[in-house]
Amino acid sequence: MSTALIILAAGKGTRMESDLPKVLHRIAHAPMLWHAMRAGLAVEPEATVVVAGHEAEQVKASALDFDPEAKVVIQQEQLGTGHAVAQAKDALQGFEGNAIVLYGDTPFISEKTLLAMLEARKSHDVVVLGFEAADPGRYGRLVTSGDTLDRIVEFKDASDEERDITLCNSGVVCADTATLFDLIDAVDNNNASGEYYLTDTVAIARARGLSATVVTCDESETLGVNSRAELSEAERLFQISRREELMADGVSLQAPDTVFLAWDTVIGRDSEIEPNVVFGPGVTIENAVRIRAFSHFEGAHVSSKSTVGPYARLRPGAELSEGVHIGNFVEVKNAVLHEGVKANHLTYLGDAEIGARTNIGAGTVTCNYDGVFKHKTTVGTDAFIGSDTMLVAPVTLGDGAMTASGSTITDDVPAGALAVSRAPQVVKPGLATKLFKMLKAKKAKQAKGN
Ligand code: UD1
Ligand code: CA
Repeated sequence: MSTALIILAAGKGTRMESDLPKVLHRIAHAPMLWHAMRAGLAVEPEATVVVAGHEAEQVKASALDFDPEAKVVIQQEQLGTGHAVAQAKDALQGFEGNAIVLYGDTPFISEKTLLAMLEARKSHDVVVLGFEAADPGRYGRLVTSGDTLDRIVEFKDASDEERDITLCNSGVVCADTATLFDLIDAVDNNNASGEYYLTDTVAIARARGLSATVVTCDESETLGVNSRAELSEAERLFQISRREELMADGVSLQAPDTVFLAWDTVIGRDSEIEPNVVFGPGVTIENAVRIRAFSHFEGAHVSSKSTVGPYARLRPGAELSEGVHIGNFVEVKNAVLHEGVKANHLTYLGDAEIGARTNIGAGTVTCNYDGVFKHKTTVGTDAFIGSDTMLVAPVTLGDGAMTASGSTITDDVPAGALAVSRAPQVVKPGLATKLFKMLKAKKAKQAKGN
């Protein structure tokens, strides 16, 4: 049985106090919308329809960024969740199978929960995701008799007794696609908000002799974001759960509370992460890697048995092969470091390729930018770059080449050659003593003068 996703993302999110549409605010470096779309991947959807409205062009671009195959439909006026789902009808014309409605601002619905809903769909026509709310507040209430869901009543329209119900509506609904649109067609806006409620489909289904039921999940999954404070809470919860997942998968986090992960951070088994490490998007750390304290990553790939940090920065395009050592105050950007490369101190490697086992001395800089263009530095295998070498790109050094400390390398260095480019040293015996004497005498004279 195939499944379609309908993701509602048309709302403005007034309480965010933002020019950015709510669903594009980020949790762990990804728009909330992506989290919702990713959650939906659990059901291997054959079609995904995102309903955009407020700042639709931005929302559309973001949705397509995540999934170029997604269909984005526009809800011109936000007349309610039922009206929003109705906008997906044309895009799903002829689609046979289940439809699951998700909200773009409810990012954490789990795979397990969505699969449980599909399972329940096998014996019920309409399946609604509910949760026991600690504080039911203004959520819609689920009116049930036994396993049967009779109807959903919105807080605004609920009686006092109905408001006492603590089983609340998450908003996630699953039904046969054609059935869902049939039910939506019958929804009116005769209610306290004057909106077309998706939730009314349940009572309509029941009146038509269809069955409806509730699947429940933990309240933390249905967490919706309506304000910056709730956004930060969502971030906090994401971090906690992702850290726990990583530890369960065999990653050591010495001080988990101080490690910040991105939505897509991948870390392999037996890797160790010391305190105060920050992962931006697009980072993969393979197995048995040691990440030392205060390091920062973005768009980087680190192969197994490498060591990075403390105080290292890996920027987009940093590609470390196995057993690479990156030490303190080393920055790597758009550079491939082959097996066993060592760059242990105070170095910048940008737009570079460094051959296997090459040692990069302290204070080495690839001078990759001429103010307009970026240029590449290539170093062969088993080379030795002396401390304080400036590699002025474009420049190529062959296998086993060596540079003398303090050299500024502007010309290519052939394999096996040593390049020295610095003023020859001159030694003048006794001159230091003489100079000191002269300077100290001058100082003494000045002191007297005061
Ligand atoms: C909705 C449910 C409520 C549930 C709650 C859970 C209805 C009528 N009510 O209420 O039972 O407890 O969610 O959070 O469904 N949206 C559109 N177009 C619209 C209206 C909404 O795309 O015209 C989108 C919003 O951007 C949002 C989602 O649908 O992502 C939910 O809309 P919202 O207005 O927040 O619904 P609630 O009043 O919270
Ligand atoms: Ca809401």
